[in-house]
Amino acid sequence: DASDIEKGTYPHYMLKEIDEQPLVLRKIIQKYQNDQGELAIDGEILDAMNSADRIYIIAAGTSYHAGLVGKQYIEKVAKVPVEVHISSEFVYNTPLLSEKPLFIFISQSGETADSRAVLVSVKEMGHPALTITNVPGSTLSREADYTLLLHAGPEIAVASTKAYTAQVAVLAILAEVTAIAKGRELEFNLVQELGIVANAMETLCDSKETFEDISRSFLSTTRNAFFIGRSIDYYVGLEGALKLKEISYIQAEGFAGGELKHGTIALIEDGTPIIALATQEGVNLSIRGNVKEVVARGANPCIISMKGLDQDGDTFVLPEVHEMLSPLVSVIPLQLISYYAALHRDCDVDKPRNLAKSVTVE
Ligand code: AGP
Repeated sequence: DASDIEKGTYPHYMLKEIDEQPLVLRKIIQKYQNDQGELAIDGEILDAMNSADRIYIIAAGTSYHAGLVGKQYIEKVAKVPVEVHISSEFVYNTPLLSEKPLFIFISQSGETADSRAVLVSVKEMGHPALTITNVPGSTLSREADYTLLLHAGPEIAVASTKAYTAQVAVLAILAEVTAIAKGRELEFNLVQELGIVANAMETLCDSKETFEDISRSFLSTTRNAFFIGRSIDYYVGLEGALKLKEISYIQAEGFAGGELKHGTIALIEDGTPIIALATQEGVNLSIRGNVKEVVARGANPCIISMKGLDQDGDTFVLPEVHEMLSPLVSVIPLQLISYYAALHRDCDVDKPRNLAKSVTVE
C-alpha cells in the first residue's frame, strides 16, 4: 500500500523519522538563512519578539517539552522572560498576564484542540500570537498572527521525534536572531554549532545497534523506568519518559535529579532502571551524586553523558556539541531506546493504543 512505499525500507515510520533528523536540521539551517548566510527571521516576528515584555509558550506533550527548552534559550540568549504552559491547563489556570504579552504556540500538527482553545481566547483578548508548526495552513497557523515553520516533512508516527528536534532548533534560531536584533554580541556561531549537531545526530543514528543492546539490557523485563537530569537534561528526561511510555507502555517518569530525595527515591528497588543524562558541566557533579544515591539502593543505571564530561562506566558517551544545544543530540538515544523497547515487546510502534497523532478534541 501507499504508506508502505513512503516508509521505504524502514519497518516503521518512527525509525525513518528518527533517521531524518540530521537532514531536517540541515534543512532548517538553510531555510532560516538569508542570502548573506546569516540567520534570519521575518521582521514582523522580530518586532513582536522585541516589543513583548513577556512570552507565554503554550503547547502539549512533546511540543510542551520543546517549549521548556525554548524558554531557556529565549531567556538566556534573548533576555526576555518566558513562561511555559500546558495548553489544557492554561484555559482554567490563566496566569496574570503581563502588559505586553506575546503568545507562542508550539504544535507539530497545528491542530491540537487544547492549544487552539487558548489561541481563541488570546485573540479575543487582543494579544499577538506566533505559531511554530510543521504544517503550513494548519488551524493554529491560520489563526495566529505569525507562523514559523519546522520544515520537518510529514511526521506520521504517533510518537513525535523529528518534530521535537526541529522545534528545539527553530526556538534556538528565534532566540538568537532576537538577540542579534537587540544588538547583543553572541558567544558562539549558531549556524556552525547547529552544523556540528547535525553531524553528531548522524553518528547517533548510525549507532542503532548500541541503543538496541542498551534497550534490551535495561528495559526488556521492567515494568517501570525513571529518567533523571538536571537543568536542560531534566526537560529531555521528561521527553524520554513520554516517548518510552507512549510506545512501549512501560511506566516511565522523568524527574529533576534534585527532586529524587523529596519522594521519588522511595520507588527505587533492586534493578529499577534509571536513565541519567549528564550533558551539562555545571550540574555534572550533582547528577553523578544522584546516580550514586540510586545505585546504592539497587537501581540499574544507564548513564548517557556528553564527551568531555564522561566518566568510567558511563553507558554511552554523546559526541560533543555546544552544551546549550545538547537536547538535539541527547534525545536521539532516548528515542531509539524507546523504539527498541516497543519493538521487543511487540507493541504497535507507529500506532500505540489509545493515542491519536493529533488530538483534535479538548
Ligand atoms: C508525542 O509523542 C505525542 N504523541 C503528543 O504528546 C504530541 O506531542 C501532542 O499531542 C502535541 O501535538 P502537536 O505538537 O501536534 O500539538
